Amino acid sequence: MATTDPVTMDKIVSLSRRRGFVFPSSEIYGGLGSGYDYGHYGVLLKNNIRARWTEAMVQERDDILLLDTAIILHPRVWEASGHVAGFTDPLIDCRTCKLRFRADQLDQAQCGKRPSKRPGEHTECDLTEPRQFNLMFETTVGPVQETGSKVFLRPETAQGIFINFKNVAQLARRKPPFGIANVGGKSFRNEITPGNFLFRMREFEQMEMEFFVPPAEAEEWYRYWVEERVAWYRRYGLRESHLRVREHEPEELSHYSSATSDLEYLYPIGWSELEGVANRGDYDLRAHTEVSGTKLEWVDAGTGERYTPYVIEPAVSIERIFLAFLIDGYEEETVAERPRTVLRLHPQIAPVKAAVLPLIAKDEAMVTRSRSLYEELRLQFMVEYDDGGAIGRRYRRQDEIGTPWAFTIDEQTLDDDTVTVRDRDSLAQERLPIGGVSAWLRDALRQPWSTPKAA
Ligand code: GAP
Repeated sequence: MATTDPVTMDKIVSLSRRRGFVFPSSEIYGGLGSGYDYGHYGVLLKNNIRARWTEAMVQERDDILLLDTAIILHPRVWEASGHVAGFTDPLIDCRTCKLRFRADQLDQAQCGKRPSKRPGEHTECDLTEPRQFNLMFETTVGPVQETGSKVFLRPETAQGIFINFKNVAQLARRKPPFGIANVGGKSFRNEITPGNFLFRMREFEQMEMEFFVPPAEAEEWYRYWVEERVAWYRRYGLRESHLRVREHEPEELSHYSSATSDLEYLYPIGWSELEGVANRGDYDLRAHTEVSGTKLEWVDAGTGERYTPYVIEPAVSIERIFLAFLIDGYEEETVAERPRTVLRLHPQIAPVKAAVLPLIAKDEAMVTRSRSLYEELRLQFMVEYDDGGAIGRRYRRQDEIGTPWAFTIDEQTLDDDTVTVRDRDSLAQERLPIGGVSAWLRDALRQPWSTPKAA
């Protein structure tokens, strides 16, 4: 097998569209900036990413609870958090070409005039002074815009956790260290320069966990969560050569953070932030205590000891993980002199776990046996039945959506009740008794997996 391909963003966009993972949003109206809609396989992939994250954060541990908070919160939440005053990017306009740029990213931007240069380098460029632009989307609560109150769509899910600290700590009777995970859905940012497909979007689905710890243990837990999150990506097969940890320099730190590490992935645009792990200290609980007047601290009912916990926060969007998995898994190769594109996704991440295929689509006996196996498997797994077209094309289609196994019903099945199972990665085929397929698949899904893709 010869591998030919360095992955480009264009190839990922094209596969995503061709196979129904992701579509440009509002396309029949000409599209809207960098908005995207998820098709069938995209939704399944997102669901699997969320499920694996939740398993690792909640199901496999004793110290983290779930929460799902509102998108529109009281506007004072964003005053207390510092977002009203400080969640800004410096913006520059060009009076000639009418394009807008982030002042801190001019070296990565393209001027609107030809030949294309950096903004400011063309003789006709006429750039404004930088001005601060708040990234929060505003809207109004109440039926009449003039008299309603101005609110914001949340730019992160974290604040929903902080303002519920008392509810959760009291009801669950938890003693730090313990965590609260918000997997409630979307965050919104009016990014000046969205782009690079799913990498920088105006609406994206965040998964954030705030881990509350005694202040003296904060440093230790910060290191712990950086390692845990790296291990999660390795568990789901991201290549070691494409994942690294980069600690922020003091001047890069957000206003709330005393230490932050970015887990960076080598996207086709270069090393970029996949996930952030921050030590937020007691910034948020103190800020909300001050502005709301409600004390957000931990009190030991027995000893009366009280303190404001420090917070360690792993924060990521499903979109950045989605994109990293697609890029890491994408491979073009030549097999028996024919090209194939394959998505080498971890079986627990793959949208579809197995395909059931009659070898000859017009053979009634094969179709009947295939449909009955499919009906049995679909009760437990996300599986597909396909009898459209030549068997080679059906395999290729499943390879492109990352289906790890295909069960094929052929002549021999009708004689001895066995099927072939074809492995997406090795292309090896073996025979199994048809009655044992379900148990085989359950067991295969539990096995550790590592990518055969070269580093
Ligand atoms: N609560 C902290 C926080 O929100 P952040 O670094 O601004 O920190 C956390 O965002 C994560 O959310 C990032 O590491 C990235 O995975 C994701 N993210 C941020 N902005 C995004 C955008 N415009 N599009 C897609 N994902 C984004």
